[in-house]
Amino acid sequence: MNFIPSDFSKQLTILKQNFESQFRDILNQTSLAKSPPLLKEAIEYSLFPGKRVRAILALKSADHAKLAKDKAFKMAAAVECIHAYSLIHDDLPAMDNDTLRRGKPTSHIRFGEATAILAGDALQALAFEFVAFNSNACKMLAVASGASGLVGGQLLDMQGSAQDPAWLLKEIEQKKTGALMAAAVAMPFAAESHELTQQVYEWGENLGVLFQMADDILDETASTEDLGKSAGKDKEQNKITVISVYGLNAAKEKAENVAESLSQQAKTLFADDLFFVQIPYFILRRQQ
Ligand code: IPE
Ligand code: IPE
Ligand code: MG
Ligand code: MG
Ligand code: MG
Repeated sequence: MNFIPSDFSKQLTILKQNFESQFRDILNQTSLAKSPPLLKEAIEYSLFPGKRVRAILALKSADHAKLAKDKAFKMAAAVECIHAYSLIHDDLPAMDNDTLRRGKPTSHIRFGEATAILAGDALQALAFEFVAFNSNACKMLAVASGASGLVGGQLLDMQGSAQDPAWLLKEIEQKKTGALMAAAVAMPFAAESHELTQQVYEWGENLGVLFQMADDILDETASTEDLGKSAGKDKEQNKITVISVYGLNAAKEKAENVAESLSQQAKTLFADDLFFVQIPYFILRRQQ
């Protein structure tokens, strides 16, 4: 399959609108309501807007796991909070030192470094407030976000060079991006102690790897205007990416293969649900 059917794009828009329509309401039911106004402003600045890929994955996956809607929204909100925090910290001068994110100045440019760091800290705590109702989901999100997951991956990304670049690249992709995507799809299964939890987690992790491959390819090939974040930074900062390791053409071919394999696996894991069969291609072909 080498195109994204328009039905799929429509479905994605509806799912995104569905999430957005609830997100502010459920945020207002948390400790955020009692936050100092500046911190709340900085948190909301980074939560809106977003593509919501991870939230949508959690909501769709919850349908398959037969999880109640209110619980599914909390999980979706939680992954968006972790994601937004990770982007604030990723953009800091001590990390990727970026000035543009989601088409706006990055948090530290807009609010100063101290407030940006604290907004990230509070978003991370907020995520766990959302999933505290289920210990399986909570633990899965904690492990995916922490030292062996997202944060560990960010450390490896910052550290750079190694003896074996292909091995290191895989580690970086799986940890910094794969782990959170895995938690997004697998938390609803974990909450229901579903027998497919581990398989769904691994599928989600590879979807995250694909997401990072596409992100690296876009960094090289797309414009800052289209991305809403500064393009060409990876080469400038000598990052280990799928392009620095394999070159652009081989990187694109690799990403195609990963998408095809994920799409095939989705047929059995998600009972032929076209959403899951098509999402790998959406992630691969996205322009931003
Ligand atoms: C960007 O994620 C960071 C990566 C993990 C590559 P997204 O491209 O999902 O960012 P938003 O949420 O749409 O801004
Ligand atoms: C970031 O990867 C992954 C995170 C966990 C935040 P990148 O550094 O490539 O993300 P962008 O390109 O800045 O969005
Ligand atoms: Mg980075
Ligand atoms: Mg970055
Ligand atoms: Mg990038």
